[in-house]
Amino acid sequence: MMIRRMGEKVGTTQLVIFGASGDLTKRKLIPALVRLEAEGQLHDQVVVIGVSRSVKSDQEFCEHLAGAIPEEFRGAFESLSKRIHYLSADVKIPSDVEKLGAALDAMPGGESAGRLYYLSLKPELFGSTLTILGEAGMLRMADQHSDVWRRVVVEKPFGHDQESARALNTCMHRYLREQQIYRIDHYLGKETVQNILGFRFHNTIFEPLWNSHHIELVQITVAEDLGVEKGRAGFYDESGAMRDVVQNHMLQLLALVAMEAPATLDGDDIRNQKVEVLRALHIPDRADIAEQSVRARYTTGKIGDSNVIGYLEEEGVPENSQTETYVALRAEINNWRWNSVPFLLRHGKRLGSKFTEIKVQFRMPPVQLFNRPDGLSASEFRKQLRDGNLCQLRPNVLTISIQPSEALSLSFGVKRPGASMDMTPAKLSFNYEDVFKCGSAPAYQRLLLDALNGDPTLFLRSDEIDASWCFSDEFIKVWAADDAPPICEYAAGSWGPKEADALFEGCEGGWSRG
Ligand code: BG6
Repeated sequence: MMIRRMGEKVGTTQLVIFGASGDLTKRKLIPALVRLEAEGQLHDQVVVIGVSRSVKSDQEFCEHLAGAIPEEFRGAFESLSKRIHYLSADVKIPSDVEKLGAALDAMPGGESAGRLYYLSLKPELFGSTLTILGEAGMLRMADQHSDVWRRVVVEKPFGHDQESARALNTCMHRYLREQQIYRIDHYLGKETVQNILGFRFHNTIFEPLWNSHHIELVQITVAEDLGVEKGRAGFYDESGAMRDVVQNHMLQLLALVAMEAPATLDGDDIRNQKVEVLRALHIPDRADIAEQSVRARYTTGKIGDSNVIGYLEEEGVPENSQTETYVALRAEINNWRWNSVPFLLRHGKRLGSKFTEIKVQFRMPPVQLFNRPDGLSASEFRKQLRDGNLCQLRPNVLTISIQPSEALSLSFGVKRPGASMDMTPAKLSFNYEDVFKCGSAPAYQRLLLDALNGDPTLFLRSDEIDASWCFSDEFIKVWAADDAPPICEYAAGSWGPKEADALFEGCEGGWSRG
């Protein structure tokens, strides 16, 4: 698994990108390939074939891509662009796909090259495209270990709910073995996300404490200050925050924080443990959902100094939309390790700033010996602590910062020098940039390399996706019902609806602001 075959270049391969005119190809995929080229990870027999309906030449395609390449990677782009081709084809038309097959056969490596098909398409085209490719024999492999390999990368969303995800899976398995399928969740390509496993299972100091006896709550935040991006409202309104981010990225973070240690670093051992924990998620009923979740959408507000419009005013959003741009929920994991520990998950667009973070909050000492102000009873003191009134930095919180800060920190109390026994907050910190003096590689760079090398560890297996939908669908169903509680609102640039504070009931602390 995660052991990179450093120095070993990706051999003769045809990388076919469907949806080549789209944003993802230009902003993420090609820049990731260019970085791999710059690092010398791609053999000069790796060719890229962009496929899309619009008509353009190879040169026009490269000119379109060039706009997203930073100055420092110009040289690598020049070199890669000699191996970037473009083919105008409609994936809905079988004869177009056959034309693609013939073009691939005529390229370097021909039929004996490895082929990676990247479906950067609208989700409704996944099934039909695979069917056409399958029927044309373009996904066939002699045996699973053959050098003449065929793999497919599927972008998220993988299905719209559990039922459609299962149907898509069945369709894929008609033409592909599981080992040929790479379901992407770009969060798993982030260095700091991979480090959750390393941090937990390479170090022993936290493991004895990593359970409900010592952990009071786990808070996971994926906050964004961006709203719905131009041209994306149609998709987003069908999807909403739950399907767009919570069902996939956030549940993956939860799985990594909560899973048991895998027996080895083999992809399946890791994924088996993630599935176990996702399956142990308590499936909430209607009453739980009313009490333990909040969905909301942003209204007009301010991001920095700029006034921004509300979700309902965004171009392309239907005026009667009930789609949430914010979700906060209190999840529980029904297993021995985590029983009764709340996992508070929060994601929203147009919040105060962009950050992704996991906070593991250890329990307070059973008796508070320090810092009780004169005249305050023990119970009032505890309440003040709980409300965050007495301590700016709560002691014994492990913060795993995923982005933009890539860091780990542990807060604790130290005695302030002087005659009285006053405890004051302190921190132990580690920051990637300070230590390694370089930024992490973009997530897509790592994931593309793994897909090219045939390492599925950082890709999702269908049972993980199934378990994630099983949990998320319950919320989505309750929110879509005629008698659903009304959607809450929050001003853009704020930290979300005040109703979400109630999810902390019984725990100390509040929502993180990064
Ligand atoms: C994508 C969602 O999967 O993740 C987007 O579709 C979201 O809506 C994005 O903005 C967030 O990713 P990141 O890496 O910027 O946190």
